[in-house]
Amino acid sequence: MKVHIIGGGNLGVAIAKGIAKFSKTNQVTVTRRNTSSILHLEQLGITVSTDNTHGIQQADVVILTIKPYQVDAVLAEILPVISNKVIASGVSGLSIENLQSKIGNSNYAIRIMPNIAAQFGASATCISFNEKHSDQAQNVVSLFQDLGTAPIIDEKLMDAATVLAASGTAFALRYIRASMQAGIEIGFDWQTSLAISAQTVKGAAEMLMEEKVHPEQLIDRVTTPQGCTIAGLSEMETHGFSSSLVRGIKAALKKIKG
Ligand SMILES: NC(=O)c1ccc[n+]([C@@H]2O[C@H](COP(=O)([O-])OP(=O)(O)OC[C@H]3O[C@@H](n4cnc5c(N)ncnc54)[C@H](OP(=O)(O)O)[C@@H]3O)[C@@H](O)[C@H]2O)c1
Repeated sequence: MKVHIIGGGNLGVAIAKGIAKFSKTNQVTVTRRNTSSILHLEQLGITVSTDNTHGIQQADVVILTIKPYQVDAVLAEILPVISNKVIASGVSGLSIENLQSKIGNSNYAIRIMPNIAAQFGASATCISFNEKHSDQAQNVVSLFQDLGTAPIIDEKLMDAATVLAASGTAFALRYIRASMQAGIEIGFDWQTSLAISAQTVKGAAEMLMEEKVHPEQLIDRVTTPQGCTIAGLSEMETHGFSSSLVRGIKAALKKIKG
């Protein structure tokens, strides 16, 4: 499979690196107008170009990782030279219907919402497509399964997916930062505190994904009656730990919906 990524910024580069490392896909091209900061990708076997049409005719999947206001200019460049292409868009807020109307009936619009952990094969990439394009979407689904998990969701949940999976990366990192700061207060240097905090989150997430249980069941396993864990949890909840997270996620969703 050949993948052509237009928009070699934060997300585009993360996807390209993830494909180079974790996918069976053997050819990846990434484009942007100024490539000086991404030329190092060539060492990973990734083709880097300033030409959005470079090799695009051979691509099985075209991925758009550009900002919403850049879409029309990019499509004006590529549409004259492509047909029958699967165009997977990670552009926030661009609906399947809107993209499909822009790219015409000879191409297939798929909507994806990856996050930058794609680089480490650990993205939660939500995917939506029109039922009639499910055959064409299969390449995209299997590509993103190589880069983590790739749940197929109803498009009306795409904004929620953006907040939970893309912004969620920042929310999770803030938790780790706070844990690291607390670790410094209780005696660790920041590097050791960060390493412990990050590994603890990774371990908790791996347990959840392996055992597929409700988090509270695992919390119960580490919460001794009258022990330090329940004392910590109760204090955190008194100060709004869960409710601030829920409120933050709902505020982010409100913002995205305008
Ligand atoms: N970052 C995330 O975690 C994340 C997660 C999910 C979805 N998204 C969505 O993904 C999109 C990209 O986000 P981002 O954070 O990766 O933005 P970004 O870092 O600004 O990347 C956008 C890239 O597009 C390139 N670009 C602009 N115009 C172009 C053109 N005409 N042809 C080719 N390349 C062009 C820019 O480079 P040049 O200026 O050099 O061309 C830039 O590197 C956005 O719609 C965002 O909402 C991002």
